[in-house]
Amino acid sequence: MIAQANGTISITGIGAYAPERVVTNDDLSELMDTSDEWIVERTGIRERRVAADDQALSDLALPAARAALEQAGTPGADVDLIIVATVTADMAFPSAAAILADELGADEAGAYDLSAGCTGFMYAVAQGYGMLAAGLARHALVVGGDVLSRILDWSDRRTAVLFGDGAGAVVLDRVSEGGFLGFELGADGSGGPQLYLPAGGSRAPASAETVAERKHFVQMNGREVFKFATRVLVSSAEKVLAECGKTVDDVDVYIPHQANIRIIDHAADKLGIPKEKIVVNVERYGNTSSGSIPLALADAQAEGRLQDGALVLMTGMGAGLTWGSGLIEWTANGRTP
Ligand code: UT7
Repeated sequence: MIAQANGTISITGIGAYAPERVVTNDDLSELMDTSDEWIVERTGIRERRVAADDQALSDLALPAARAALEQAGTPGADVDLIIVATVTADMAFPSAAAILADELGADEAGAYDLSAGCTGFMYAVAQGYGMLAAGLARHALVVGGDVLSRILDWSDRRTAVLFGDGAGAVVLDRVSEGGFLGFELGADGSGGPQLYLPAGGSRAPASAETVAERKHFVQMNGREVFKFATRVLVSSAEKVLAECGKTVDDVDVYIPHQANIRIIDHAADKLGIPKEKIVVNVERYGNTSSGSIPLALADAQAEGRLQDGALVLMTGMGAGLTWGSGLIEWTANGRTP
């Protein structure tokens, strides 16, 4: 799906939260046969955050959501739509979004979770945009976050070193000018087996066997996902830019999914985006799945990179296999009441 946006809707608040516990590459090398040198060279990751035992996804989402709402100047009670993009909700149901709505006092909000792997945040932002553009909501809270540490096989060095926990949130509002220019979303289900969680769903419900066979942990074909990632980060960005009548040279800030610095560098090279325009924090957080792009957005804002009028390109990719881009003309102020 590729679409040019036609309403003035923008991000008016950003919040992020990463758990306090830092796990370095050296910490991991005590658990498994790996090294700081290998991880840094192959991925660019130096450390990641891991949730405390009593922290579930909604506990990470809540501080991020509160910070985003505060920045937007939107009381929780005014939020009428909450979408949480995650593959590690507190439980299969109720949704993390419903739990969050209760905690925020968003009593009038429709609230649901969305599953699109690491692309979830981009899908959720596009969907929040659509709801506002259609007049079905006025103030949307979109959260992306995951607690992947709970579904990683900590004895599998091929996956365990790559991921971390974290969540970010944005508030979407109507604005007087600028805002989203377009989105491009896609899915190729034939690539599903390249990155999946085999058991715990209706195909292979939890049983003593599924636990013994370690089927409740992430399985990934790293090389295939790498090839897919480098391809779609480029094609999705090119499509959304073309649809919106923009070129790569117009982009001021590029926020790619933070999976691996080699994937980011490869995509930026192919697109022709210079390094100084790219937001990178993978070295501090690893791949936080749906939390990746909003955590990077929060960093970009803290660094003063989200200036009024800046053209910001965001592209995610992940399980599904899925991908998604959004192009936004940043509006620092200008929310319409
Ligand atoms: O949101 C999407 C999520 N997924 C991704 O983004 C993952 C995309 N894929 C990748 O980032 C890369 O494929 C990896 C970082 C996962 C792997 O990098 P690679 O350069 O493709 O390495 P490789 O899989 O070809 O493995 C090279 C070697 C292997 O040893 P042999 O067979 O050559 O002897 C692996 O067993 O590195 C070994 N290896 C490790 N060594 C030390 C794999 N993982 C590790 C490790 N520490 N953690």
